[in-house]
Amino acid sequence: MESPFKEDIVRGKVALITGGGSGIGLEISTQFGQHGASIAIMGRRKQVLDSAVSALQSLGIKAVGFMGDVRKQEDAKRVVESTFKHFGRLDILVNAAAGNFLVSAEDLSPNGFKTVMDIDSVGTFTMCYEALKYLKKGGLGRGSSSGGTILNISATLHYTASWYQIHVSAAKAAIDSVTRNLALEWGTDYDIRVNGIAPGPISGTPGMSKLAPDEIDNKSREYMPLYKLGDKWDIAMAALYLTCDSGKYVNGTTLIVDGGLWLSRPRH
Ligand code: HXC
Repeated sequence: MESPFKEDIVRGKVALITGGGSGIGLEISTQFGQHGASIAIMGRRKQVLDSAVSALQSLGIKAVGFMGDVRKQEDAKRVVESTFKHFGRLDILVNAAAGNFLVSAEDLSPNGFKTVMDIDSVGTFTMCYEALKYLKKGGLGRGSSSGGTILNISATLHYTASWYQIHVSAAKAAIDSVTRNLALEWGTDYDIRVNGIAPGPISGTPGMSKLAPDEIDNKSREYMPLYKLGDKWDIAMAALYLTCDSGKYVNGTTLIVDGGLWLSRPRH
């Protein structure tokens, strides 16, 4: 689908996207690249990274992949440093790396809970922490007093309660708090805007294949206000809005992009 944004809205910016090799992260990488940004993607799987970088480069996007696990602080530090060395700046950090599986609370081991907290919540904070000194130097253009911007991919699971998702709900709730607190502290101190996106069910993502095996197309449609799944494109457009100048007065918010789904109940 054609973008409603001008093709140069993030020209000259450098974006680092964790989990940028697949799903929502890859679409954000692609759209940021097609709107002028240079792209660094971080992920654990070499093959996934390599094929994503090739796909981006085949679109004429300046792209590089760095292997790393957001659970390891030394990886986070190395990847932000490498991004800065490679492109000479860092303006945008997108935390899209996430872990998930369906399991009842009764069957979830504390280590399973901790694993998802470590990837989603601690990983998000660690990336922000390591990126801060570079984001201070980035932002709306060289010589600008403004800092860069951070985007954290969240969810709507924790607005209510979600079956078999206690670990992810807790992790995404923590991410939303990280978003607000960093927006307050780093917005005030460094002009760094920190926002989030809470996607609904998005077709063609690892999350959908793991969480809604076929169910969503029939049963759930009854209570989906827009009666359809979202596209990765919808999330990437929201990401562009929040990170480029159109979002310059938006800070500390998590934008829900779910077609109104989380508000709804089955029709009686
Ligand atoms: C119960 C499980 C489990 C499962 C793992 N564990 N899978 N418990 N059911 N299906 C438990 C293990 O038993 C172990 O605890 C602990 O979790 C760590 O497991 P590992 O396999 O060692 O972890 P690891 O290899 O690091 O893998 C992490 C992962 C994996 C999260 C389990 O799925 C992963 O890496 N996923 C990344 C990709 C991903 O899932 N993307 C989808 C994101 S979708 P014990 O106690 O046995 O040691 C998404 C959407 C959210 O985020 C919102 C949707 C609306």
